[in-house]
Amino acid sequence: MGTRLLDATGLRLALPDQGRKPAFGRAPLLEILKGVELAVLPGETVGLVGESGSGKSMLARTLLRLYRPTAGRITFEGRDITNLEEAELRPLRARMQIIFQDSQSALNPRLSIGTALAEPFLSYGRATGSREALRLAAGLLERVGLAPQMAGRYPHQLSGGQRQRVGIARAIALNPALVVADEIVSGLDVSVQAQILELLRSLKAETGMALVLISHDLSVVRALCERVVVMQHGRVVETGRSQDVFERPDHPYTRKLLRAIPLPEVDPEWIDNVDIEEETP
Ligand SMILES: Nc1ncnc2c1ncn2[C@@H]1O[C@H](COP(=O)(O)OP(=O)(O)OP(=O)(O)O)[C@@H](O)[C@H]1O
Ligand SMILES: [Mg+2]
Repeated sequence: MGTRLLDATGLRLALPDQGRKPAFGRAPLLEILKGVELAVLPGETVGLVGESGSGKSMLARTLLRLYRPTAGRITFEGRDITNLEEAELRPLRARMQIIFQDSQSALNPRLSIGTALAEPFLSYGRATGSREALRLAAGLLERVGLAPQMAGRYPHQLSGGQRQRVGIARAIALNPALVVADEIVSGLDVSVQAQILELLRSLKAETGMALVLISHDLSVVRALCERVVVMQHGRVVETGRSQDVFERPDHPYTRKLLRAIPLPEVDPEWIDNVDIEEETP
């Protein structure tokens, strides 16, 4: 138990169902998470899969306490975070980060990339002043394979892949123990997807952080994740070592999912052959 980085038991989440809100009074509650058990070990890569609407994003957000669960318990680094207030969560936010698919809206359009990346160092007191914060930000750019001159650019001046690199840079700024990546390569060109995923993998190896990867692409999960968690209708229906789950799925839903998504005969080593450096024009 003590070795778990993140541990969720009996996790439930119900939110007002705005679509069914009557003209007067409260909207009825919609049950989104229906008693989820999930553990993440330090340094582990866990794939979270399941059809659209199964609750993957809401689970990720609840685990990182962007939502307060309706029931259940979450511990992170041995600490019960289930009901912490935002002020108490703040120091922990540096240790657990989430990267979203829509990197455009995650970045403030008015801040240059350098300023945006300097911000966490300043707000968490990790830099003595803006000079040092900008220097640290430059180091982050390098770690995610972006050229130093990107610091002067604004989000709209970047490609989707470059923006996701910035999103990753921001997530790793304060050395998190856990990063959740929610569909971060959807919508990118396949070659860019591969570069971003390889970047994540090499950063993971370098920092020892744990990674929860939410992806529709089962071949990606298979190539990157040691363990896979399958969700359906707000529940975890199967979990196990990726290899086992993909080769011998237990749950009928997992089998259906594997059939529904064409799974190319991926060479598990494919990702080793991807060059993570961005081609700078
Ligand atoms: N803010 C919200 N308020 C109420 N219900 C929501 C909210 N956000 C999502 N839901 C509902 O919660 C359920 C799970 O949604 P979630 O976004 O977690 O699915 P998902 O597995 O991430 O799907 P996708 O693969 O499409 O991203 C869905 O039924 C969705 O309609
Ligand atoms: Mg989602």
